[in-house]
Amino acid sequence: MNTEELKKRIIRLKKDKKAIIIAHNYQIGDIQDVADFIGDSLGLSQQAARVKEDIIVFCGVHFMAETAAILAPEKTILMPEIKAGCPMADMITAEELRQWKHSYPGRRVVCYVNTTAAVKAECDICCTSSNAVKVVNSLDGDEILFAPDKNLAAYAARHTRKKIIPWDGYCYVHNTIRAKDVREKRALHPEAEVWVHPECRPEVIDIADKVLSTGGMVREARATQKKVVIIGTEKGIIYRLKKENPDKDFYPARDQAFCSNMKKTDLKKVLRSLEEMVHRVDVPLEISRKARGAIEKMVAI
Ligand code: 13P
Ligand code: SF4
Repeated sequence: MNTEELKKRIIRLKKDKKAIIIAHNYQIGDIQDVADFIGDSLGLSQQAARVKEDIIVFCGVHFMAETAAILAPEKTILMPEIKAGCPMADMITAEELRQWKHSYPGRRVVCYVNTTAAVKAECDICCTSSNAVKVVNSLDGDEILFAPDKNLAAYAARHTRKKIIPWDGYCYVHNTIRAKDVREKRALHPEAEVWVHPECRPEVIDIADKVLSTGGMVREARATQKKVVIIGTEKGIIYRLKKENPDKDFYPARDQAFCSNMKKTDLKKVLRSLEEMVHRVDVPLEISRKARGAIEKMVAI
């Protein structure tokens, strides 16, 4: 079957089964083309809870599908590629977080949504790349534990008077975007603005014009008068930015900024997922209940 046939078959089958496909902004273009919703990590999970369909094919990485299962426990959440994980989310386990909290008694704990459900269940509140500062500032106490992304922690620390104690985690895709890469791209496109994700290194944040989540980049791309933008995040988002803004040019800050887990999902796997109803993502009840509390606290802010 060629690509167009695969897409047609997926679209027909999702209609027959009353399923919906949601995809992260970093997914390959073919997946974005068959998706009903494309968005950032939290937006997709909230969308999963909102839609009327009972079957959701989640094209992203495991922690995102888990978050959808937590927010929509009555729905069937399917991942076409169950091995698509997030190496940063795996940099802290629930046991490691318990021990860390033990060595800092009384401190509030913020967990980035890029964590497993078991880790979320151990924290006070979650945050995303777009609300980390607000979440930190909402908490009591002068010292906050922040896991797992040290770069997002450093970004939040710039905008709060609280002391942030970071876990030593990072996203390998964003952490390998260097200030030198940005400078080289700027030299090639001197008229460009530079937008970077807060998972980037502090020295990259220092030279950026804007710091935005992937959802923020999508919105800003529609709103900006700028015609050329250098994008400091996973390069898959550029497909969407170009498709939605054909009059503007977007260049990756680093040509190799590529999340291999985000690219594990393809059309054949999506078709199989719908045909065989695989792979179902469930979160154990007790973990789901606690993790949901941490996510809902964040949403309430
Ligand atoms: P967003 O929440 O900004 O989409 O980020 C998700 C992610 O995995 C960033 O690397
Ligand atoms: Fe995880 Fe980074 Fe990939 Fe996002 S881009 S899923 S944080 S490894």
